[in-house]
Amino acid sequence: MRPFGVRSKLAHEFTGFTGKPKDFRFLIDREKQSTQYHNIYYADDIRYIRLKLMNLPPDADRKRRIPPIINCRMSKGGVGKTVICGNVAATLAMFGHRVLMIDGDPQASLTGLFGINWANENINHIGELMYRFHRKESFYIETAIRPIYNNHMLDLIASDITLANTDTWLMGSTNREFLFKKFLDANVDVFGRYDVIVIDSAPSTNLLTNAFMCASQKILAVVWLDGQSLKAMQVLASNVAELNSAFSELGFHLDVHIVANGYHPSYSSCKDALTTLASNYPDQLSDIVIPHASSFMRQVELYKEEQSGPAIEREPNSTAARAVIDLTKSLVKEYDIRIADQPVI
Ligand SMILES: Nc1ncnc2c1ncn2[C@@H]1O[C@H](COP(=O)(O)OP(=O)(O)OP(=O)(O)O)[C@@H](O)[C@H]1O
Ligand SMILES: [Mg+2]
Repeated sequence: MRPFGVRSKLAHEFTGFTGKPKDFRFLIDREKQSTQYHNIYYADDIRYIRLKLMNLPPDADRKRRIPPIINCRMSKGGVGKTVICGNVAATLAMFGHRVLMIDGDPQASLTGLFGINWANENINHIGELMYRFHRKESFYIETAIRPIYNNHMLDLIASDITLANTDTWLMGSTNREFLFKKFLDANVDVFGRYDVIVIDSAPSTNLLTNAFMCASQKILAVVWLDGQSLKAMQVLASNVAELNSAFSELGFHLDVHIVANGYHPSYSSCKDALTTLASNYPDQLSDIVIPHASSFMRQVELYKEEQSGPAIEREPNSTAARAVIDLTKSLVKEYDIRIADQPVI
């Protein structure tokens, strides 16, 4: 479990509190720990306060149905999918949402970002769960779910290199495109507990990434601001169009929401790429642009892996964290992510 909490100023923002600052700490019944100088608020505290401000009981819950899925995608590597995925997921939890992250990439970068060294651990990844479901073998999802923040505010289904074998058996399964969706639906008692599911996908287009797409309503396409990534965006858009036309009779329709990443004001190539994106995808491009920021590069610790963590945790007052918070707020609206089924204002 990661003891990540924020000080009052950010906690005010995450809860939407607009009263007098001195009244804020009375919203929570817990006393400050004697070892702490500042009040620290954890994700479950923020949820508690938000529910209180909405006049709902602390145990208010949601109906068990599959929540919105933020599926981070790009048909190109190294564009910032994992950076956006890990930071947005952690920030959604800090806004008081219950979040499940699924590491859908055999590179296991999201798993590593949260300090888990897959080489030393027994990982029950999503491919294995789907395989057992497909074979009608018994499985217990709870053992695959790792708590990252207290009280299931942020959970993770981790990955390791063996997730790469998934396509081999998916190839032989009928209805393989919708197998992940069927798996979610069949286990709605577990997946329906979360307000949102966030998936980190591998860069390649393969059967597993397609299965994640076929369970989503809107993918989050991460575009690095250069020519190669713009081309990759075209490839991804045609992949989406292909799925939409192949499965339209089933009522399937996938949308795309685009976030531009790595903006650097002194590079004219970034400005040009952003202009091209805005003119090619005017309705899909997010208003929030993620800057090029060293905080994102400092997230992973090579020799002290357990100390790795998303920028929002390690440098919550940085420019990088500010952009992530603003992006997360916009995604809450874009994906209609709720708390205990209540729309967030
Ligand atoms: N906005 C940014 N500013 C600076 N560095 C960034 C930014 N976004 C990502 N990076 C850096 O770029 C590298 C690739 O990022 P990341 O691993 O998130 O990409 P990815 O799309 O998930 O890659 P892959 O396709 O291999 O999974 C990382 O070293 C990361 O720190
Ligand atoms: Mg990645």
